[in-house]
Amino acid sequence: MKPLKFFVVADPHYFAKSLDAYGTAYEEFMDFEQKCYAETAAINDAVFDYLKNSADADVILFAGDLSFNGEKASHIEFSQKLKDLQDSGKDLYVVTAGHDIEPNPFEFNEEQGRHHVEGVKFRDLYDYYRDFGYDKAISFYEKTLSYVAQIGDGVRLLVLCNDGDEGKNLAYSDEMMAWAKEQAEKAKEENQIMIAMEHYPLLPGQPLLTLIPDARQKKSRDVINMLADSGVHLIFTGHMHNHSINVTNSDNGNILYDVCSGSIIGCPAFMRLVTIEDEHTVKIESIAIPEFEWDKKGKTGKEYMKDQFERMIRSMITGMKDDPQRLLRRFGAGDKKTLFGPTRKIGKAMSTWSVGKVTRLLGVKADRRIKDMPFLELAVSIVRYAFEGDQPYVEGTPEGDTILKFFKRLNPIFKILNKKLHGSQGETLDFYDILKNSVGNYGMSDYNSILRF
Ligand SMILES: [Fe+2]
Ligand SMILES: [Fe+2]
Repeated sequence: MKPLKFFVVADPHYFAKSLDAYGTAYEEFMDFEQKCYAETAAINDAVFDYLKNSADADVILFAGDLSFNGEKASHIEFSQKLKDLQDSGKDLYVVTAGHDIEPNPFEFNEEQGRHHVEGVKFRDLYDYYRDFGYDKAISFYEKTLSYVAQIGDGVRLLVLCNDGDEGKNLAYSDEMMAWAKEQAEKAKEENQIMIAMEHYPLLPGQPLLTLIPDARQKKSRDVINMLADSGVHLIFTGHMHNHSINVTNSDNGNILYDVCSGSIIGCPAFMRLVTIEDEHTVKIESIAIPEFEWDKKGKTGKEYMKDQFERMIRSMITGMKDDPQRLLRRFGAGDKKTLFGPTRKIGKAMSTWSVGKVTRLLGVKADRRIKDMPFLELAVSIVRYAFEGDQPYVEGTPEGDTILKFFKRLNPIFKILNKKLHGSQGETLDFYDILKNSVGNYGMSDYNSILRF
């Protein structure tokens, strides 16, 4: 076969230029938001220009959450942008996701604050996106807008969507699993390489995400077994806005890579350029999104998005100290008055103590190079790197060694937690290992890797 190259763009979360995103309520909302919001149209414009002019690849996959929150106006504008890009000679394939059918989309302005705007129903999505996959499909599973398309010579794409008229982010039905398996086996018989795309990751993007039910496709183990055992060894996903590459084996020992890409409108903001070299080798590269036109206050786009990410984490930590009720309200616990005092105390320690002072609580001496560093700065970096990927705090670094010594002291607590808690899909947990691998990346690079199967 001839090598095939394509781009993967995840979570563009387009917010229509005709809608509002400003005012006091908007700024309050943005204190706890990772994604840029008012800026999404400008960012998408820059990315679309880049894709249009790139000679690297003509095939482009969009891995879901096409609109910000399912606003009808955003779907109208975004589908027009896709059409223009496709008309320029590119070949586009999309999957839709939960944010595309949010029941209560909204906009912000000063006069009305946050208020509702018109959304769409799942069944409307076909009309917006039919030209970017559904109508080009060799097989179309209409109920969930899933399909198979021939995206290159000898390469097929299986697109899985887990929404339907009855709801979003559901487990796949037996009927849909049987359809997908049949398609994968057919591809194998016809000597086609089949790769897959769905919005929800099959593997937790970072080990800590094992604990969060919404971070993964439901009953993901069944999907992993079905795909890997039918000859599909690579899936592209998005959703949690983290950038990661993970690998597993099916129960029968067949390999599956989950290449999860971060949102293009939030830190770290990378696209993927993928090369299928042959039936056993795929090259993954990551490309930072291009500069976008916006008043970025003298910052680069990368710095601007990083600052928004850190604003979110800082607001959460300092918010614990300054206004515990506001923070707890954000997580649906604004009425739990007994939590206000402890939240304030933890927030105060996290916002004002040094790394050395925190680790001394458990009798751990922090590495001298970081002991006077504000703990808040380390905490913000740990969270940011968990989303960025290629987390640097591995054994042998001042941060990694200090953090791991601290975690070791927590081992008696971890042992109890390991017995009492399970992952969101029933997995046995090892908290030390989960945390170690969340602060440091020990496997392959999350950015540029060669996948072999
Ligand atoms: Fe998203
Ligand atoms: Fe999502």
